[in-house]
Amino acid sequence: MIFESHAHYDDEAFEEDRDELLSSMQEKGISYVINVGASIQTTKNTIALTEKYPFVYGAAGVHPSETAELDEEKFHWLKEQCALPKIVAVGEIGLDYYWEEPEHDVQKKWFERQLELAREVKLPVIIHSREAAKDTLDIMKALHAEEIGGVIHCFSYTKEMAREYLNMGYYFGIGGVVTFANAKKLREAVEYIPVEHILLETDSPYLAPVPNRGKRNSSLNLPYIAEAIGQIKGISDEEVIAITERNARKLFLGES
Ligand code: NI
Repeated sequence: MIFESHAHYDDEAFEEDRDELLSSMQEKGISYVINVGASIQTTKNTIALTEKYPFVYGAAGVHPSETAELDEEKFHWLKEQCALPKIVAVGEIGLDYYWEEPEHDVQKKWFERQLELAREVKLPVIIHSREAAKDTLDIMKALHAEEIGGVIHCFSYTKEMAREYLNMGYYFGIGGVVTFANAKKLREAVEYIPVEHILLETDSPYLAPVPNRGKRNSSLNLPYIAEAIGQIKGISDEEVIAITERNARKLFLGES
């Protein structure tokens, strides 16, 4: 079965058919879904989804673009949610310099605080890093993020950068972008990364793979991503699905 390591089913794009879609997931081959928080509100939404669906687990965290909303009180609330049995990661957290706001110092401060939070509550992290390769790596090295563990979600950097995260023991979330015609750099990185360090993800409702590029994404598109990775690695889709499921169960569910 397929382990979906990163989705946002609380997004308004699923307003019309959320329950229908999620209720059909398991019979369509999806074993687990990690619904990822990106703000205080979406962390609340995530918790509600984990309470409703047995196969949905959650990550609690504030995305770099939303960090302006954080203060000590909200941060404390976030910490409390990490004790819930179905919250299995802190995320998504990181740096995003594609957008101008909030300023880099604000993003960095809350990235560091949330990394330290993950260490304290003993959960892995889900990292979002966009156009901020150097600062992300510098902070993770300075804070010894290799002791925390986690996944670099929607990995978009070079093979050289992949080596750095691999040395820290991190996993790599690979999604729809790997199927895009112009994704040469990512395909080189996927060729380099051992499949034992890859997780399947969609980032639904965003980034649907070919042949559904541009449409609303869902975990039901994951077979296209597994197929693309299998072609790059020279292994079957089934092997990609089985190995990445094992990887995700190890990281998020603590299985050996
Ligand atoms: Ni996301």
